[in-house]
Amino acid sequence: MQLRIPGPTPCPDEVLKAIGRQMINHRGKEFVEITNRITPKLKQCFQTKNDLVILSTSGTGGLESAIVNTLSPGDKVLSVSIGIFGDRFADIAKTYGAEVTSLKYEWGQAAKPDDVRKALKVNPGVKAVMVTHNETSTGTTNPLQEIAKAVKESDKLLLVDAVSSLSSINVETDAWDLDVVVTGSQKGWMVPPGLAFVSISERAWKAHAEAKMPRYYFDFSKAKKFLADGQTPWTPTVSVFFGLDVALDMMLKEGLPNIFARHERIAAKARAWVKSKGLQLLSADEKFASNTVTAVKAPDDMDVPKLNSTLRDEYKVVIAGGQGGMKGKVFRIGHLGFINDSDMDEILAAMDKALPKAKK
Ligand SMILES: Cc1ncc(COP(=O)(O)O)c(C=O)c1O
Repeated sequence: MQLRIPGPTPCPDEVLKAIGRQMINHRGKEFVEITNRITPKLKQCFQTKNDLVILSTSGTGGLESAIVNTLSPGDKVLSVSIGIFGDRFADIAKTYGAEVTSLKYEWGQAAKPDDVRKALKVNPGVKAVMVTHNETSTGTTNPLQEIAKAVKESDKLLLVDAVSSLSSINVETDAWDLDVVVTGSQKGWMVPPGLAFVSISERAWKAHAEAKMPRYYFDFSKAKKFLADGQTPWTPTVSVFFGLDVALDMMLKEGLPNIFARHERIAAKARAWVKSKGLQLLSADEKFASNTVTAVKAPDDMDVPKLNSTLRDEYKVVIAGGQGGMKGKVFRIGHLGFINDSDMDEILAAMDKALPKAKK
């Protein structure tokens, strides 16, 4: 089966073997050794020297941790949203009492750094900016480096959802001065769901010292204290740690530039196929089309659920439909993590055959 939704993603055999291991004591020596091996490897992928905590949760838990650890109820935040996950980030902030100003774009658009610049001029009281790097629902990647530049000109805290980009698309946490960066294990990391990785800058720690939003499970201070002893405050998803240790070795052996180039190459193949079929990307400007997920507009005569079930039942390829209001109007091919060129050739060959069978 080719599982090609934008997460969970397939795991290599070496990873599956590792996660099938017998349990160990999460307060024992072996777990400490694993944490102490994993953390620096993760920091290499984040391109950061900042603190980095590993939380047993999904990406959304990681986003919630970013908010509750740096903000207080009543704080003003700017949400830059280009889709469903951007809206979710804003919803979490609202839930915890932040005053959210939204810079919202139509599906398929990328955010414009100058709009962020202007929004911060108009709203000088904003404490933090929240942005999605790669919007999985629309297959669109924001120009994060330029957005970060605009945010830093106003000296604001920057919280980044890099759930479906980090480790597959270049994210330079330190060079771009990103304060809190969140990603999730089931995306580009070649391991199952269950872990979120969160990097925390000096500036974010300062904000944390004053932040009054309620938090318990996701408290960065507790995570940092336990990390100093190679542990987590609560019982972690130990099996995913086993797999991650192996997956990170594979990734670092391949090398980050090679991983990014592989994702770029495979995504280009997907986009070329879309155009060759006379279909349209959801991304309005191909320059911002994602290298981890390709979102395609369904023509009026296409039955998206039929496309997906034909692909699954007849060709053993699983792709995703549209989310929320995009349901039935969009289909999405995930191409992140454990994927190579011949996988993409196989997927597209199956799509060639399934397309004519997916008419309304
Ligand atoms: C960009 C983005 N943000 C957040 C999430 C939420 O992550 P999770 O489903 O792991 O909670 C996802 C998952 O699809 C995502 O793609």
